[in-house]
Amino acid sequence: MKQVYIYRSFERFWHWTQAFLIFFLGLTGFEIHASISFFGFENAVKYHNIAAYALLILIVFAIFWHFTTGEWKQYLPTFKNLKSQIDFYLLGIFRNAPHPTKKTVLSKLNPLQRLTYLGLKLLVIPIMVISGLFYMFYRYPQGQGMATINIESLEIIAVIHTLGAFLLIAFVVAHIYLITTGHTILSNLKAMITGYEELEDDDHEKESKVNKEVKLETNN
Ligand code: HEM
Repeated sequence: MKQVYIYRSFERFWHWTQAFLIFFLGLTGFEIHASISFFGFENAVKYHNIAAYALLILIVFAIFWHFTTGEWKQYLPTFKNLKSQIDFYLLGIFRNAPHPTKKTVLSKLNPLQRLTYLGLKLLVIPIMVISGLFYMFYRYPQGQGMATINIESLEIIAVIHTLGAFLLIAFVVAHIYLITTGHTILSNLKAMITGYEELEDDDHEKESKVNKEVKLETNN
């Protein structure tokens, strides 16, 4: 085993800020939905709007980062090893079986993570952003009067936005369970905080070269 620098500083900043914003948008969103009571309705709307703008800004930076670093390739879906990964989570994990996918700097996501995160990035988050913006600008002040986006009613938007919110909450719950399934209960969490994770050493040469480059890059 060897300590490998696997999550760079922007990546960790983006991950934790996104996690906080999604949690906060869920909290304020479900207060708007009248499921919980915490900030008061008016404040919840105000905070939800602010957090939504913050998330939009973060998304723009994250897209830029993914493309300039080439990290978007980590999310290319693959079906290789997908079944063994599912079997591992359903059975192997309870029998102390080894992890079926080896984690490396160049391929840090297992096939199930690749599919799930790609679905989040291309489907759930865009649905939340688009329905949220429709929700925001359905009626907006224009000159002396009000303009309305040409949609029948807000109902369909509200249903889509709320369904997306349930999906995101389900994802967060599953994600929190799955981060405990690394080499140790806390190894994945620690890696996303410090950037370093203990990985198997056999690709040692290639890994440490990439590692050095990454470190040099981040130090510059
Ligand atoms: C950029 C992203 C987002 C935008 C622009 C946005 C925007 C909005 C707006 C404008 C509303 C209506 C507020 C009002 O009634 O005045 C709303 C409601 C809501 N939002 Fe978001 N939102 C976003 C992301 C999220 C996320 C990530 C979640 C959940 C994790 C979420 C959960 C909710 C919920 C549950 C409601 C209440 C829906 C209802 O009862 O009809 N939103 N959102």
